[in-house]
Amino acid sequence: MPDTGETHFGFQTVDLADKQGMVDEVFHRVAHRYDLMNDLMSAGLHRFWKDAMVAMLNPPRSGRYAVGDVAGGTGDVAFRIAEAGGPDTTVTVCDISPDMLAVGQERARARGLDGVVRFAAGNAEALPLPDRSQDACTIAFGIRNVPRIDVALREFHRVLRPGGRFLCLEFSTVDVPGLDRLYDLYSFNVIPALGRAVAGDAEAYRYLVESIRRFPRPQAFADMITAAGFRRTTFRLLTGGVVALHSAWRL
Ligand SMILES: C[S@@+](CC[C@H](N)C(=O)[O-])C[C@H]1O[C@@H](n2cnc3c(N)ncnc32)[C@H](O)[C@@H]1O
Repeated sequence: MPDTGETHFGFQTVDLADKQGMVDEVFHRVAHRYDLMNDLMSAGLHRFWKDAMVAMLNPPRSGRYAVGDVAGGTGDVAFRIAEAGGPDTTVTVCDISPDMLAVGQERARARGLDGVVRFAAGNAEALPLPDRSQDACTIAFGIRNVPRIDVALREFHRVLRPGGRFLCLEFSTVDVPGLDRLYDLYSFNVIPALGRAVAGDAEAYRYLVESIRRFPRPQAFADMITAAGFRRTTFRLLTGGVVALHSAWRL
């Protein structure tokens, strides 16, 4: 895959080849405070959004069911799927950051889920999963960090079996008058300040906020999913559009 061209790292224009390294540096710096910061920044709402994704997935209570949770970080979504599914549900967390995976592995051990939730170092653009091996593929708050989103979407399609489901949770665009200005004020002022106070790193959190604004609008992202080969692509907005939950199927 060519590594040339430009993309965005937050509001900066950067070489495509440089973005992943910059993203990796962000998650290397924030991994130790990642879960606490998620709760503080979203006032706990990320739990509700992840629960909504797992409720939509509705993993079966019986039979083998394999899920690849890409950019799964510290395991939050994977643990929910494992707990909602039956005894033969397995979740593979694929993440590019060894620091995030290390936190996830520790959490899985503490929950007694280390046989059910596996952790694999891997890039969403070249998933370490065989063709047609997964019943479902999920990604939460990860896709906007990936330099070549179209390549990653084709990878999700490749690893899903026919009939398999793709679900993506990502920050979106708040269009509700009044709420949009409040959200901007909060995002650009409160979040970097929280990042400085709690994780000792305002810059990393500034990137996270800026990258949200750069991400395609929900319909444009739905069109990208369909262009990658998926069918029946739909989305719903949560919390006034703060978050979009996209669903699509490999048929
Ligand atoms: C905001 S965190 C989300 C973690 C988790 N899904 C959650 O919702 O709590 C984004 C994750 O994407 C991972 N990531 C970034 N680029 C990636 C890539 N190209 N392939 C796989 N993971 C990637 C980061 O390492 C990080 O763990």
